[in-house]
Amino acid sequence: MSPLMVGVVAETAHAEHRVALDPEAVARLVRTGKAVLIESGAGAAASFPDESYLAAGARLAARAEVIARSDVLGVVGSPSDDIVEGLHPSQLLIGLLDPLNNLPLIQVLASKRVTAAAFELLPRTLSRAQSMDALSSQASAAGYRAAIVAAESFGRYLPMMITASGTARPASVIVIGAGVAGLQAIATAKRLGAVVTGYDVRPASRGEVESLGAQFQTSSIAEGAAAGGYARALTADEQAQQQQELADKLTAFDIIITTAKVPGHTPPLLVSEATIAALKPGSVCIDLAASELGGNIQGSINGKRITTLGGVVIVGGGNLASDLPASSSQMYARNISALLDSFLVDGVITIDTSDEIQKSVLICHDGQIINAALRTALQLETVAPDAQAAPFEPDASIPPNQKVQPA
Ligand code: NAI
Repeated sequence: MSPLMVGVVAETAHAEHRVALDPEAVARLVRTGKAVLIESGAGAAASFPDESYLAAGARLAARAEVIARSDVLGVVGSPSDDIVEGLHPSQLLIGLLDPLNNLPLIQVLASKRVTAAAFELLPRTLSRAQSMDALSSQASAAGYRAAIVAAESFGRYLPMMITASGTARPASVIVIGAGVAGLQAIATAKRLGAVVTGYDVRPASRGEVESLGAQFQTSSIAEGAAAGGYARALTADEQAQQQQELADKLTAFDIIITTAKVPGHTPPLLVSEATIAALKPGSVCIDLAASELGGNIQGSINGKRITTLGGVVIVGGGNLASDLPASSSQMYARNISALLDSFLVDGVITIDTSDEIQKSVLICHDGQIINAALRTALQLETVAPDAQAAPFEPDASIPPNQKVQPA
């Protein structure tokens, strides 16, 4: 039997520097009997030269050959058009496919009889799934990077400095949204010496924020938590109330990092234009929720740094994990390897929709879209309850092409 062929090509999305497998993961795959095919140059932007993949036991090939010959293709973001075109039946595609925002793509993959698995649909609280949790590994990298970018963008010291030439007071930082990214941003800003506050609508986050030595603040809107440990979407009135409360608090801070997301919904707008206008010149806002659909900070543009007329720096940081490409790719590669392992029985891809992880992450298989949330979004008839599980309900008020996933 020929070994399972795992392939990786270069990511082509704008400003994407990550790669789906690093050489270390390649070596592990080869050690466990798989063959690995890498597009020449795929890891260059993450500082993994071709030679490091060769040394790990991979074979280099042209992009089209990798796509055509792989049994399993690992990608970071949504596959580019040439990948989709080149895929053929029974290949397994694994990645952060953002399926609820990519319904036409999902339909094409299904029609090509590709088997596709999306990390966004992983049941993250399952202990067996934790090594596969790419949302967390990438959020963690983004949170760390957010604090570094904030420090770099701020024209003053973060720590308290007492020198012969004078004393600098420590910067005050608030991190709004204390999930995986937010907690990492809090920890990093603390290490840099800032005075840090964490803010969330989920009461459970208080203990996590305080255990990092940060102060905790929350909204007067009680019970912002929903199922699965996520926040619930607030009503329009609640959002307005929260924005007003935040406006009163935020002028006390030098740096505002926002990470607030609600799975299946657009990110809540938390920092209004009026609040930004009231901030001190030199203040820095980093919006990790920034996307084409908007973010937490009014006026933030994903991937761009702007300075307002009032001298406030706003960074749209929706893809900050890509700014730390070697580390985030290393973690992502472990997530890919672990998820792939969960599909293998004696080295062979074995689809088992009674398995809790497979039935959650699988989008399509054997020509069918088999995820319940996606079937609902596409207005397809529902499948038998044991055939699929939906990790969260899509928001019916948002048109299908505007639905968002946790990122
Ligand atoms: P996320 O990326 O969906 O959201 C980030 C944060 O924004 C969350 O803490 C959320 O409560 C907060 N938020 C949403 N709306 C807000 C608003 N209007 N105002 C202020 N904050 C708001 O969340 P993430 O990072 O994916 O984690 C969500 C939860 O899942 C956390 O409790 C996390 O600890 C938990 N989790 C558990 C895992 C496990 O058990 N292995 C793995 C990953 C996450």
